Amino acid sequence: MNQPLTALLLGAGDRGANAYGRFALENPQELRFVAVAETQPERRKQFAANHHIPEERCFPSWKQALAAGKIADVVINATQDATHYPSGMAALEAGYDMLLEKPIAPNLADAVALTLTAERLGRKLMIGHVLRYTEFFEALGEVIQSGALGQLVTLSWRENVGAYHMAHSYVRGNWRSTRDSAPMLLAKCCHDLDLLTWYLREPITSLASTGSLLHFRPENAPAGAPARCTDGCPAALECPFYAPAIYRDMLPIKYTLLHSEHPSIRWLGKAVLRAPGSIPTLDKLLPGQPLSRALHAWPRSVITNDPKSDEAVMQALLEGPYGRCVYHCDNDVVDHQVVLMSTQSGVSVSLTMHGHSYEEGRTIRMDGSKATLLGKFSHAVCYLELWDQRGFLLWRKSFATELDRKQSGHGGGDAGLARAFIRMLRGEPDALTSGRSALESHILAFAAEEARLTKQTVFLETFKQNWGLQ
Ligand SMILES: NC(=O)c1ccc[n+]([C@@H]2O[C@H](COP(=O)([O-])OP(=O)(O)OC[C@H]3O[C@@H](n4cnc5c(N)ncnc54)[C@H](O)[C@@H]3O)[C@@H](O)[C@H]2O)c1
Repeated sequence: MNQPLTALLLGAGDRGANAYGRFALENPQELRFVAVAETQPERRKQFAANHHIPEERCFPSWKQALAAGKIADVVINATQDATHYPSGMAALEAGYDMLLEKPIAPNLADAVALTLTAERLGRKLMIGHVLRYTEFFEALGEVIQSGALGQLVTLSWRENVGAYHMAHSYVRGNWRSTRDSAPMLLAKCCHDLDLLTWYLREPITSLASTGSLLHFRPENAPAGAPARCTDGCPAALECPFYAPAIYRDMLPIKYTLLHSEHPSIRWLGKAVLRAPGSIPTLDKLLPGQPLSRALHAWPRSVITNDPKSDEAVMQALLEGPYGRCVYHCDNDVVDHQVVLMSTQSGVSVSLTMHGHSYEEGRTIRMDGSKATLLGKFSHAVCYLELWDQRGFLLWRKSFATELDRKQSGHGGGDAGLARAFIRMLRGEPDALTSGRSALESHILAFAAEEARLTKQTVFLETFKQNWGLQ
């Protein structure tokens, strides 16, 4: 039997601890963390305790960890976007193969340099494109490859970012500023662009794009809204971005319940929606259910190190960035963007990303000469339908959601990605998300950003040549 792969974790934050850390705890025969680098002492200590990592293998930063020589088989790099390049380059140079969270880097020059360095040094590099490893997106790819659609003519893909998620990540949180983070299209849709390049199997030759920060601006604030939701906002009851409702009362979970296909779960959603104090009740009603873990997970786990405590959550809202009014933040990233693409054979593709959705999830439509494929991938509902051009439903398949069964995050993709990385390290040639394949999605995102800013069509061949790429 194979020994578990040993790993050095860089960044024991949400992804490091709750995606990869969780995978290792649930699958100790496959992956074992033997060292950790994390700047926040509490997070570092907690991760070390959970994974039985000795003191001398705990480092306050990636720099010290990578200066310690090669102390594990691989590096799992779950630091924030801006740290991917310096820490990733150092890890490759220290001799590590690496699973690196997406995006490769927040700018294209660094993403290209990191990918080419891995190739030059012969290191295995995998990027965290988790969705390729989900049952839903695998099935979607199989339909396209089966030829059931006939000749593909149009493909329309929507990334409907839930309003609470937009507020959390792109208005109040880590990805709100163009100065400090990648363009939102890369941060939020590099998975989608990655899936598109995977499915289309032919180059996208040109694209155009439009989009802006339309809504989350001071002039759209409700009358009398103070700088913080916790300062007695007169719009607290009706505002979908009211911070205590999102974090203390976990509106994201309630919306997920409300959109379930199961009437009893919808009933539960209605019963608890907006009722303060309902989280402890749900906790009692759902002992041991996957949902009960979610009650204290993202986004609570991002704003405090003690996500089970309502007091800690409220303290974070009183003092930290996540209690700010969404109309009085220092955000400047877009809240919507549309990209129109054309493939070499002439298929027209559109990608709409926006942060104003009543529920979080992707909706997909592909029209071919023989059939139309409809898909929905949300937290509460996942299905594919195939309709023929005479209007008959040929088949419909539902997929497990995060509500239905105990599976890892991203529809099972988190565990699928970790397993694919382990197989890649063992020499099995089925890695779908190598650095080079991931770079394609990044090129599209940066080309789209250029098209949006310049209001010009971008031709991908020229764009790539300008970056020294084929
Ligand atoms: N694959 C996916 O679907 C997916 C989903 C969410 C986030 N992400 C990506 O994962 C990465 C991590 O996101 P997150 O939400 O876990 O962020 P996070 O902020 O929770 O975690 C990052 C951690 O890195 C630590 N850190 C900062 N500087 C460090 C240093 N010098 N050395 C070591 N650690 C350091 C931080 O203290 C923090 O704990 C980001 O790049 C993000 O874009 C990917």
